[in-house]
Amino acid sequence: MTGLDRIRFLPLHDKVVSAEKALELIHDGDVVGMSGFGGAGEAKTMPLALAEYAKTHPMKITLATGASLGNRIDGKLSESGAIERRYPYQADPILRKAINAGEVMYIDQHLSEMADNIRHKNLAGINVAIVAATAITEDGQIIPTASCGNSANFIEMADRVIIEIDTTISPVLEGVHDIYVPKTRPNRGPIPLIQSSDRIGSIGIHIAPEKIAAIVMNEIPDTSFGMDQPDEDTLAIAKHLIHFFEQEVALGRLPENLGPLQSGVGSVANAVFAGFEHSSFSNLQMYSEVLQDCTFQLIDSGKMTFASGCSMTLTDACAARVLGNFDQYKDKIVLRPQEISNNPELIRRLGIIAINTALEFDIYGNVNSTHVTGTKMMNGIGGSGDFTRHAHIAIFVTKSYAKGGAISSVVPMVGHTDHTDHDVDILVTEQGLADLRGLAPRERARKIIDICAHPDYRDALNDYYDRACQQGGQTPHLLREALSWHARFEELGTMKIA
Ligand code: COA
Repeated sequence: MTGLDRIRFLPLHDKVVSAEKALELIHDGDVVGMSGFGGAGEAKTMPLALAEYAKTHPMKITLATGASLGNRIDGKLSESGAIERRYPYQADPILRKAINAGEVMYIDQHLSEMADNIRHKNLAGINVAIVAATAITEDGQIIPTASCGNSANFIEMADRVIIEIDTTISPVLEGVHDIYVPKTRPNRGPIPLIQSSDRIGSIGIHIAPEKIAAIVMNEIPDTSFGMDQPDEDTLAIAKHLIHFFEQEVALGRLPENLGPLQSGVGSVANAVFAGFEHSSFSNLQMYSEVLQDCTFQLIDSGKMTFASGCSMTLTDACAARVLGNFDQYKDKIVLRPQEISNNPELIRRLGIIAINTALEFDIYGNVNSTHVTGTKMMNGIGGSGDFTRHAHIAIFVTKSYAKGGAISSVVPMVGHTDHTDHDVDILVTEQGLADLRGLAPRERARKIIDICAHPDYRDALNDYYDRACQQGGQTPHLLREALSWHARFEELGTMKIA
């Protein structure tokens, strides 16, 4: 059988079963903890078999993961009605629809804290863990695949464990993971990571072999990723940011290599990192969640010396280059459980510069990353809260407009607040960069409007702000008008005042 050679702890060969047999371990009402983060490293055979099975045998599970899953697994499970509750993050259009229809209860959680919440019984325990593995070592350690997510925690906490040997993943990944699981409070102590490149754990997940209830084989690869090409606006955002960083270094406020960087995924992140390629910075380091193509481009060009993440989501071309020459990379990257990659204690201590994407922000610097028009879930907060709240400098980027200009990303009041003005330091759109550090709300407002808002919306925002100031307050608002921009968009399809 293909993949048996990856199970190097031989007594476990007896545990290999078909997906149909392993399905018997999943019961209606179970809390199921699955591997997968950022669309990489998810188990595939089992969840896809479960989605098929649930079409004819109605059942409901609570699904907990690392973060978003690839291979449309969330969508397929959702279509077959198998998901009752879902946490901590998703990015699937079909599941999103079910969430916004109120059919799935979605608990949008900070990625760093879900495992600890289960460990300390704030959340229900895990009945079944389903975890993808590159291999099982001679001493029985489970080697994760392209992401660590919450896999180590799920394995530790679950009643039953199903391991899915991913025969499609390159075995060279063995050794890249650094698995560290904090102790239960009150016997925890500090996490012993001092530099972003430190290794503090083991290369695999330790588990008593008898806890493994079943092993299945998987032949479905991770989803292959596309790369958003930078456009004029995202390149302008990158230019503003690079200029800001250069100034901070010149003023002696940041070290020459800026310190560890965290970045969200997507087109802006790609553009910013492309900007680093042609900048004067060197010896760059990442302490982030998802390592994308741009991370490896910076490593290739010698600009980046180390990248720590929780998962790798690469285009096929980049994956072929990186995995085909892994000796060049393996001492320059590490993959950690999300409890460590996103850990607030470490983020604060390492002095991370956090760059995340906003859907919209308001004139005082409150940021909405999750809810379209304040009500409909887009994806979730992901790691943006973990990083923003504890970063040395917390930055949000977005284009100043959406939907061809019908939406202003700068609004009087955000319809939903994920990141408050207390936490947000810098806002950047293609129009410019507003440095809000040390500014009171009334100082922030004028700067945000004049620097970040699209010219089509500046006058209306200044008019709102001027009239709000006449009413007084530390953070002036016109309460009857504050959300009228969102209401106008819902009614008329534009935020523009006729
Ligand atoms: N109001 C309504 N819709 C908006 C909007 C706004 N103010 N701003 C953007 N949108 C829409 C876009 O039109 C686009 O819609 P489409 O999919 O129908 O084309 C969609 O939102 C995505 O916007 P886009 O500009 O392509 O940005 P993105 O792909 O970079 O995603 C977030 C932006 C905020 C949705 C995404 O970054 C996210 O989910 N963030 C939260 C989690 C996070 O930060 N994770 C990283 C932490 S490490």
